Amino acid sequence: MGLKTVEWIPASSKALIPGKLRMIEQTRLPQELQFLETDRLEVIWEAIHLLRVRGAPAIGVAAAMGVVAGIQQDDAETSAALVSAVNRTADYLATSRPTAVNLFWALDRMRRVASENQHLNVPALKERLAREATAIRDEDAAMCRAIGEHGVTLLKDGWTILTHCNAGGLATAEFGTALAPVYVAKERGMNIRVISDETRPLLQGSRLTAWELNQAGIDVTIICDNMAAKVMREGKVQAVLVGSDRIAANGDVCNKIGTYGVAILARAHHIPFYALAPSSTFDLSIPHGDDIPIEERHPDEVVMGFGRRTGPEGVRVYSPAFDVTPAEYVTAIVCEKGLVRPPYGPGLRAIMEKQAT
Ligand code: MRU
Repeated sequence: MGLKTVEWIPASSKALIPGKLRMIEQTRLPQELQFLETDRLEVIWEAIHLLRVRGAPAIGVAAAMGVVAGIQQDDAETSAALVSAVNRTADYLATSRPTAVNLFWALDRMRRVASENQHLNVPALKERLAREATAIRDEDAAMCRAIGEHGVTLLKDGWTILTHCNAGGLATAEFGTALAPVYVAKERGMNIRVISDETRPLLQGSRLTAWELNQAGIDVTIICDNMAAKVMREGKVQAVLVGSDRIAANGDVCNKIGTYGVAILARAHHIPFYALAPSSTFDLSIPHGDDIPIEERHPDEVVMGFGRRTGPEGVRVYSPAFDVTPAEYVTAIVCEKGLVRPPYGPGLRAIMEKQAT
């Protein structure tokens, strides 16, 4: 897994500023591995909005770096003016997508660092913010690694896991969340196979998950979303591993549309269902999953997907990008600090207090 999904590229080795954001252009996959390099705030906003960079943790990293890109040329003469520019830039980036809490978490962290470091002069404060954004990236990579170490304890050699959407290296700084245990298992010589739901309408499961697993030499089989019940009934799946965009205080798990159905199927077939996410995905300010804002996407993604009309013009389309799996269907939640099992209310609060292991 050498993929650098999103990173900051400084112009010189002397300082982080000036620099550019470099990301894998995920809408081009699996046809070609192309990179988008930019220092333009509007281009970064659009990249998040159009899913050129996507997956909750990767969006958070891109947004933090987007703040740096947005303020690096700012002509603020005082640190207080620069803090205002940071807040304005963060407000703008916060409108790019509504559901993944990592976006808001990362932007809040950038706002806080700006406000707490107003004693620095303007160039030093800009450099400090760039350091924070790269730290968010590096910490995410480390968290994913730790999720993999904890998650692999749930797997047995020879198992096949089913996953939905892409919660792999492409969705994070590196390594992934739901796929992290699979990569760790491979490093340890275990044989884990993956069944990847195609994930309509944007096909993250077949375009991205299957691509990155294939690159890593992991056995992966693509199925259409409506085949999951059959493969489960055939005994082909021993565990379901998914990522998350936001986990509410009661353990309800918001993830890519279709995840809820997979969880119900897993329960019906007595298959454990695990959600894997860094603690930056936990939103304990939201008591219940029903309160999580769910993004609705453009109808064309459903009826004009990838440039081909598959539904009549003018027909109404409903396209929520995410759904919420009630906590009762979730066997365990895995984060960088360990495993949480029901009851999730006290479990999530306790693990948030705990140091990472
Ligand atoms: O719309 P996307 O592609 O950003 O949705 C991504 C997902 O739903 C992922 O499963 C989730 O962000 C977890 S990523 C580690």
